Amino acid sequence: MNLFDVYPLMEVSPEKALGAKLWDEKGEEYLDLYGGHAVISIGHSHPHFNQRIKEQLDKISFYSNSVQIPIQKTFAEKLGEVSAYPDYQLFLCNSGAEANENALKLASFAKEKSGFISFSGAFHGRTSGAVVLTDNPKIIAPSNQRDDVHILPWNDLMAVETQLKNGNIAGIIIEGIQGVGGIHVPDSAFLMGLSDLAKKYGAMLILDEVQSGYGRTGRFFAHQWTAGLRPDLITMAKGMGNGFPIGGVLIHPDIKSSYGLLGTTFGGNHLACAAGLAVLEVIENEKLMEHANKMGTFLIPALQKLTGVRAVRGKGLMIGIDLDREAGPVRSELVKKYRIFTGSSAGKHTIRLLPPLNIKTNELSSFLESLKKILDGASPLI
Ligand SMILES: Cc1ncc(COP(=O)(O)O)c(C=O)c1O
Repeated sequence: MNLFDVYPLMEVSPEKALGAKLWDEKGEEYLDLYGGHAVISIGHSHPHFNQRIKEQLDKISFYSNSVQIPIQKTFAEKLGEVSAYPDYQLFLCNSGAEANENALKLASFAKEKSGFISFSGAFHGRTSGAVVLTDNPKIIAPSNQRDDVHILPWNDLMAVETQLKNGNIAGIIIEGIQGVGGIHVPDSAFLMGLSDLAKKYGAMLILDEVQSGYGRTGRFFAHQWTAGLRPDLITMAKGMGNGFPIGGVLIHPDIKSSYGLLGTTFGGNHLACAAGLAVLEVIENEKLMEHANKMGTFLIPALQKLTGVRAVRGKGLMIGIDLDREAGPVRSELVKKYRIFTGSSAGKHTIRLLPPLNIKTNELSSFLESLKKILDGASPLI
């Protein structure tokens, strides 16, 4: 049987990984500045993570949400504490798209409306509700098309208010920092404006922190850089399980639950909760949020000084680098010559960095040296 061929793949097959390093079958070492789409938060093969999963595996790995699963409560408590949202409620699922799908449903149920607003450049996932809010017509199938979904210009509060005035908007969804779109940071006035408008017109504000959450930007959620913002719903996945599939929705205390309103077979299973707990414990014990912030403060200005770099955006360890040339060949050279993984984005000139949160200064310095050599060695193509 052949695999359904939907992914353009690099010519690398990692066999072993530790921290921010990967090794292929020939033992060649790679530096991981991409974390497999921002998933590796506490570093590959973290001993505490591995141990917690192994211990859980030897006890019970799965039972469905039809029995008491105490580790879910332990996990929710820890998440409330580390994220500074102790009064919110948690719904556990398995991926980022699923988290968004559930958040959209909750907003729609609560407000008894069907429409949503998202923003240009957005990526919210590939399931039917999330994909129509994603700004990429190529991945929206005819069966997903809807006329009550509006992708509005970034930073345009007037456009949002006009749409809200037309009625039938259950929610506004926005990424804490736009990831796939090329690392665009919403300013605090925009986020607070959305929150105020949502309240004024009876809609919910959904913060998609699937990529930007879990300490990546130096705060637990990127939107927490905006003082006083309390979204109705916050979605997360990626860094949550450091590679173990787990997603979740944080739900404002005013939103009421009822039996059967949401559900999933796998969500919140014992093994996923053990993985999730291990991640939170490591983030807390190793002070990874502070570390991510510190590493960003080191890396961003250093990148801005490189010839060939037009702009650097982001916070902490979620960074977009705009080059004076196409990013593709630079990224290929980084892999082939210097054995460094980086990420692409919607913008052809942008490199996306999403390394593990415990990456070391010397690892970032070696990336800076390699990128400098590449950028100094070629002349701009434009
Ligand atoms: C902001 C954001 N939301 C949602 C998703 C979808 O997550 P998943 O691929 O786990 O469904 C992604 C994935 O890249 C994302 O970056």
